[in-house]
Amino acid sequence: MKNLVYKLLSLVFLFTILFSCKPKDQIKIGISLGPLHERWEKDRDYLVKNFEIKGAKVIVKEANNDESLQKTQFLDLVKAKVDVIIMVAVNSQSAGALVQVAKNNNVKVIAYDRLIKNCDLDYYVSFDNIKVGELQADYLTRITPQGNYAILGGSLKDYNSILLRLGQMNILQPLITRNDIHVVLDKNVDNWDADIAYSIINDYLKQSTDLDAIIASNDMIAKGVCKALMEHELCGKILVSGQDAETDACKRIVEGRQTMTVYKYIESLASATTNIALSLAENGSLPYSQTTINNGKIMVPSIQLPNMIQVNKENMRMTVIADGYLDEKVVFGGI
Ligand code: GAL
Repeated sequence: MKNLVYKLLSLVFLFTILFSCKPKDQIKIGISLGPLHERWEKDRDYLVKNFEIKGAKVIVKEANNDESLQKTQFLDLVKAKVDVIIMVAVNSQSAGALVQVAKNNNVKVIAYDRLIKNCDLDYYVSFDNIKVGELQADYLTRITPQGNYAILGGSLKDYNSILLRLGQMNILQPLITRNDIHVVLDKNVDNWDADIAYSIINDYLKQSTDLDAIIASNDMIAKGVCKALMEHELCGKILVSGQDAETDACKRIVEGRQTMTVYKYIESLASATTNIALSLAENGSLPYSQTTINNGKIMVPSIQLPNMIQVNKENMRMTVIADGYLDEKVVFGGI
């Protein structure tokens, strides 16, 4: 008798799972993209391609770094009754209220690359951003372990800027304590904006050119930094870091105007996010997460990918070119 009951229960369970699975062609995914420059265009295109291959419908909203526009777009996705929203938040703090609205409407939210604070977030998929900061500082300090350093951090509205800084200081602090390195300039760049980065460095160089290295927290910031260095005829004389392996940054690296960038394998980020989003949409199940991260409210199931590499002029062809991530003719020109 007991056996029969067990068999009946397992049949009921099996049917529940099978018939509670939403078919892929009925799944709607929303993508709420805050920032928009080359790296994010690639993320967007990888995600859209992945979902379309799987037969799911995708609605993409791009806010071009406008926080209030992103709020309107996010709420439109909730009204459109998407199953899951993948969000790259302009503001990691204020986006928390939007996540709560989504949850109250049975829409699941995945924070893509940038953590969203103080909310019931379903998942966080990113890279190990502390490691990104360590790789930036590691590369420059291995070339110039002593001297005057400037640090240009990212937008303080982006939690990644906090994590990057932790990684950068993991490398710099011992050298500062040993009095080998002096941090002579330390600023965060609103919206990671190249023009703001340019003004900060240009203003500094007007009063002093006694500078050996600049920790630029991404390639957009490095773009502004290199413009200022060029105007002061210091290009190539002061080390400059970056991240995102953007085309213009890799061209600067080949030409000796930027020292390095960190290439993060964003195709892996998009692939992991696609699988998690579909699992959440099909039957609400949370795929096993390697780690969790405290977002100020809950321990969020998360994946923080380690796949990234320091890119310089010498290994450019073996990394971003070999991966087909960037076009050799564009990056190397006639070189
Ligand atoms: C960060 C991201 C970086 C960089 C920056 C500016 O959150 O991790 O790769 O692109 O935003 O958009």
